[in-house]
Amino acid sequence: MIDQIKKELKTYLETELSIDNLVLEDAKKGNADLAIPLFAFAKAWQVSPLLVFEKFQHVLMGYKGISKIEFMNGFLNIYLQRDVLARTILDQINQEKANYGQKELSQKETVVMDYSSPNIAKSFGVGHLRSTMIGNALKNIYTKLGYEVIAVNHLGDWGTQFGKMIVAYELWGNDEAIHANPITELQKLYVRFHDAEKEDPSLEDKARDVFKALEEGNDRYHQLWQWFKDESMKEFMAMYDLLGVSFDSFNGESFYNDKMERIVKMLDQKGLLKVDQGATIVELPNDLPPALIKKSDGATLYITRDLAAIIYRHETYHTQKILYVVGNEQQLHFKQLKALTDLMGYHFDIEHINFGLVLVDGKKMSTRGGKFKRLEEVIIQAIDDAKNAITEKNPDLKNKDDVAKAVGIGAIIFNDLKNERHLDVDFNLANMLKFEGMTGPYLQYSSVRIESILKDQTIHHALINYDVFLQDHYYDVIKLLDQFPMMIERAKDQNMPSVIARYITSLAQAFNSFYGKERIVVEDEYIKQANLYFITQIQTVINEGLRLLGIQTLKEM
Ligand code: ARG
Repeated sequence: MIDQIKKELKTYLETELSIDNLVLEDAKKGNADLAIPLFAFAKAWQVSPLLVFEKFQHVLMGYKGISKIEFMNGFLNIYLQRDVLARTILDQINQEKANYGQKELSQKETVVMDYSSPNIAKSFGVGHLRSTMIGNALKNIYTKLGYEVIAVNHLGDWGTQFGKMIVAYELWGNDEAIHANPITELQKLYVRFHDAEKEDPSLEDKARDVFKALEEGNDRYHQLWQWFKDESMKEFMAMYDLLGVSFDSFNGESFYNDKMERIVKMLDQKGLLKVDQGATIVELPNDLPPALIKKSDGATLYITRDLAAIIYRHETYHTQKILYVVGNEQQLHFKQLKALTDLMGYHFDIEHINFGLVLVDGKKMSTRGGKFKRLEEVIIQAIDDAKNAITEKNPDLKNKDDVAKAVGIGAIIFNDLKNERHLDVDFNLANMLKFEGMTGPYLQYSSVRIESILKDQTIHHALINYDVFLQDHYYDVIKLLDQFPMMIERAKDQNMPSVIARYITSLAQAFNSFYGKERIVVEDEYIKQANLYFITQIQTVINEGLRLLGIQTLKEM
């Protein structure tokens, strides 16, 4: 709301005073709301800042919503009408509840989000976990702002590696072991293939032939591939279940097997194809390496499938806007994809939402290679640790298991989303599970604290003493509440869930320091009502912020 006032006031002043680029900022010092630095005008107009002030003062006199202006240290300070603002902001949140900050787009825009996208027959990696959590939060944020989001899991379920896997299986596979531990066993086979390949290069040719046959529909290979996929999906779905995420489509790379020929034809008709040492390529501008469309044996590649996928999505969902939440290492791939589609005459709005690594004790965390436990075990460990912490804090708590799950997973999600996504994430269970500092449990706990104060209380709107909110320590928090819609917008513009994570942390901190100073349930009924009303709105915003991040809120913990 203040943001809106700021925009309008800026335009008003610029028009009235025939100036442009007026700086109108949030007042940093004192109790004013907004401030205008006057030095630049004093210099340009060759007058004293005080004279500039008087000129502005004259224009501002008739502007509604301002209660006071003052000249201080070369700044013009503006005080807005606190009583009106406080009432409007609190009443709005109270009315809209979880819908506060929601927008309706007059023309619904669709955006496809491609995230998580693990590779079958391989374990779900930490990078996939990051992609899942960032993607899920972005989906919630865009949806809140009125977008139609199509969440796509572009499974890595096609490619030469399946030729290798099948050859390895036929040489050394053990059905029983695979049934017992599918992904672990399949990964072992894959590693064994790579070792053997060094001794016997003919294996590579074999694998290539097998993948070629698979692409052409060989029955037996297809059955094996389907089996690998089904087993992998069971593990992936268990992970999604745990994290509480869902997708609109699981159309992965294999889905495009029968859709690539048409795309290759389109490239050909546009005269873009070239043959280079038997392989089919498209040369790209701006020093980009050429895109390899087909290998010399005719097998397709990752980028061929991504090209088919983007065109399919465009034709199916009627949108230009596609977000890919994928690690940094694929930067070049998405640049090539964009360049390719530009050459074809499309104008896709492709955004590569990249992110940093996950570190344990400063080293890259990897769930492969046996150094760390499987990701699912790490998550279960977090839930266990959360349960211990909760039991210590609140031994009589009911539904301990549900609460522990929400806290343990919330801790991991928050730890991932609290910093700008391109930064590396430090993965330390003990730190992320702390109940103080910038953690998921701290936020959940702040909300629970409010819940426990509100329990057994009834709010009577008519009894609220709104004058209470004129005091600085209330009004400052109300101004923070007012920023929520703007923060959601900013999180969307920058594709950064961390904007919301940081914002709700400040809000929780503000609440906790308020709570340290002020008694909430006081004798005076009118003040008590104001206090209860005030903290209800804080809780609404914290809870909704957590929901956007994909973190469950609790009534007790
Ligand atoms: N499966 C890929 C990987 O694990 C990620 C896929 C990302 N999405 C895409 N459309 N390329 O590296």
